[in-house]
Amino acid sequence: MNKLIIEGAHKLQGEVRISGAKNAALPLIAATLLARGWHTIHNVPDLRDTRTMLALLETLGAEWKRESSTLLVNTDSLNNFEASYDLVKTMRASILVLGPLLARMGKTRVSLPGGCAIGARPIDFHLQGLKNLGATLALEEGYVTASAKKHLTGGNVYFDVPSVTGTENILMAAVLAKGETVIKNAAREPEVSNLVDMLISMGARIDGRGTDRLTIQGVTRLKPAEITTIPDRIETGTYLIAVGTAGGEVSVTHCNPSHLPSLIEKLRSAGLIIKESENSLFVSRPAKVQSIDIKTQPYPGFPTDLQAQLMVLMTLANGLSVITETIFENRFMHVAELKRMGAEIKINGNSAIVKGIKQLKGARVMATDLRASASLVVAALAAHGVTEISRIYHLERGYEDIVGKLQALGARVRKEQE
Ligand code: EPZ
Repeated sequence: MNKLIIEGAHKLQGEVRISGAKNAALPLIAATLLARGWHTIHNVPDLRDTRTMLALLETLGAEWKRESSTLLVNTDSLNNFEASYDLVKTMRASILVLGPLLARMGKTRVSLPGGCAIGARPIDFHLQGLKNLGATLALEEGYVTASAKKHLTGGNVYFDVPSVTGTENILMAAVLAKGETVIKNAAREPEVSNLVDMLISMGARIDGRGTDRLTIQGVTRLKPAEITTIPDRIETGTYLIAVGTAGGEVSVTHCNPSHLPSLIEKLRSAGLIIKESENSLFVSRPAKVQSIDIKTQPYPGFPTDLQAQLMVLMTLANGLSVITETIFENRFMHVAELKRMGAEIKINGNSAIVKGIKQLKGARVMATDLRASASLVVAALAAHGVTEISRIYHLERGYEDIVGKLQALGARVRKEQE
């Protein structure tokens, strides 16, 4: 396994180019299962998770080729409808093949994803939604087997919680179902809208893009897509917070500021200077950062995927900050590691109370999940001394070329064999 060695307390300067969004690319790749022919997906990040999703599609019979950041995918000859435990356990988002495989093949067998570091991560909303579209489901030996007689039929789906991949799975099932489907309390994340745009480019009929109510009129067949993956808003937010924490001034390019309304608001009230233009952001840090409170919410609220990173900024802010995590039940794994670097944080239920201190100190720490590992990188960039972060395969799932991008910003960071 690899580790990162970071010598901190160097300001960040220069320009960083944001890659395509991991959480958009994954459903876009899964959606290619819905139509024969060559699909073209631009701006696809080259990550552990996108490589896993492509490996999964290969086991189903798809073929693909990458030309720089453009992906060409062909699913003409699907010859398997099973997503195996080995692949699904490495990436929960593999569950995104459930809806399209059922819609295309009329049957599928997908391993239950199992839990992960940040929570139980059930998929009951996905399964209930497919049942409402006429699927017959059975759970056996840790697998979900799903089948639909001739085809799925449109129906009503209501999400108790606006599930992102739940909305995406039902969308991909509904576009080829017979009749109308209405999804209520749908997730409104930009990644869901990116998928809606792809499906519409394939000939799907979908109303309500970007709202919590999506209406789909099923069609009999779809044509291959050409779509561009939206910029990664979580990668963007991670770099904005890194500048706020380590200091300096950076231009963040090829991003979409309109996808980060809550974060930009919060960072400005913490005192950061942020100038927006259509597809870039300029960020610099004032002398001292003020503490703020945040509560994670579904989009357009504060993203849970930026909670750990924001917490690091608060460890060096003036005063007390209360950070409340409402989406996942165990998303404070980074706290113990940050305390090893001198942070003063107390957990009380699903809230963390952070008392700002003068400086963090380098230490040996361990990554536990994707965004926790990003928060450790942010902390290491600001800390005085050297930090070693082990198990960085977590990081490589969701941050394209993070070492190269940070080095270009003047950070002293290198990767070493553990
Ligand atoms: C997506 O996960 C993202 N992953 C996550 O990003 C992100 O944190 C999450 O949405 C919330 O924004 C991808 O898009 C691939 P949910 P997802 O279904 O879809 C509960 C990252 O770091 N729930 O919106 O799995 C669930 O337990 C990852 O990039 C059910 O109870 O999240 C959670 O409490 C981490 N039953 C809440 O809903 C279900 O059937 C929201 O989960 C589904 C979800």
